[in-house]
Amino acid sequence: MDSIVLSKKDFKSLKDLIYSSSGIHLHEGKIELLKSKLAKRMRLTKKSYSDYLSYLHSTQREVIEFIDTVTTNHSFFFRENNSIEHIINQFKQYPKLHTKEFKIWCAACSTGDEPYSVAVQLKEAGLSFSILATDISHTVLDVAQKAVYRDNKTQKIPLSILHRYFQKGSGKYKGFVKVKPEIKKHIQFDKFNLINDAPPPLKFDAVLCRNVMIYFDLKTSESVVNKLYQVLNTNGYFAIGNAESLMNMKHNFNSVKKIPSLYIK
Ligand SMILES: C[S@@+](CC[C@H](N)C(=O)[O-])C[C@H]1O[C@@H](n2cnc3c(N)ncnc32)[C@H](O)[C@@H]1O
Repeated sequence: MDSIVLSKKDFKSLKDLIYSSSGIHLHEGKIELLKSKLAKRMRLTKKSYSDYLSYLHSTQREVIEFIDTVTTNHSFFFRENNSIEHIINQFKQYPKLHTKEFKIWCAACSTGDEPYSVAVQLKEAGLSFSILATDISHTVLDVAQKAVYRDNKTQKIPLSILHRYFQKGSGKYKGFVKVKPEIKKHIQFDKFNLINDAPPPLKFDAVLCRNVMIYFDLKTSESVVNKLYQVLNTNGYFAIGNAESLMNMKHNFNSVKKIPSLYIK
């Protein structure tokens, strides 16, 4: 990694590439992080620094791989669960509950912890539902599809739910759990770039876009928020991360009392 001397010009061109491809805004404090990501891709592609840069700037497939290494994918089960609890409590009061299938979109689902957390709670509530779970990174989507997790990621899952919907691993899977098929079958995982992709032609009862806009600037976040507004049903919920806010953005959501990270259309 020491062999990489990232000039200001190279940093700017990489920063611009990352921004235009993913919306992720890198400031100068991230130079060391960027160097480590470059080193990783150089190792895997067996290219020198200058060869790698030209390759990256001329190969769309490599841009995808590079963005994949740059994204922050930290997630865990039952993270910031108060907004999800609120949404489900409201769903339970829906007038024609027995005929309703609730549609939810987890729009930056990372390794799947979030959509599986939503799914087990909807199942517990006896609701009928389907979840679209998307992310820009194919690596995290692979993990999500496998649905196998280390024990330490599941600490916030109530024990009764853990026992009911997760299978405990044994042998080489000791220390791991696997989401049961009865939960998996409700979730469709797909690649989706919040910045460049057109949203699916569907309407949702809730859209979760949590802990991703912290990596975007205001202009990008505002455009994502308004894009997601379009795919929500009237009275549909929009959840963001606890560290995020819609302040200073132009949008048409109303806030939900006492839950700062939750909005309603
Ligand atoms: C920190 S994780 C958040 C996961 C989950 N929503 C949560 O709150 O735990 C952020 C995710 O956003 C994804 N991401 C970053 N830029 C994206 C984009 N432009 N479109 C879609 N997903 C993106 C990353 O790949 C990563 O998996």
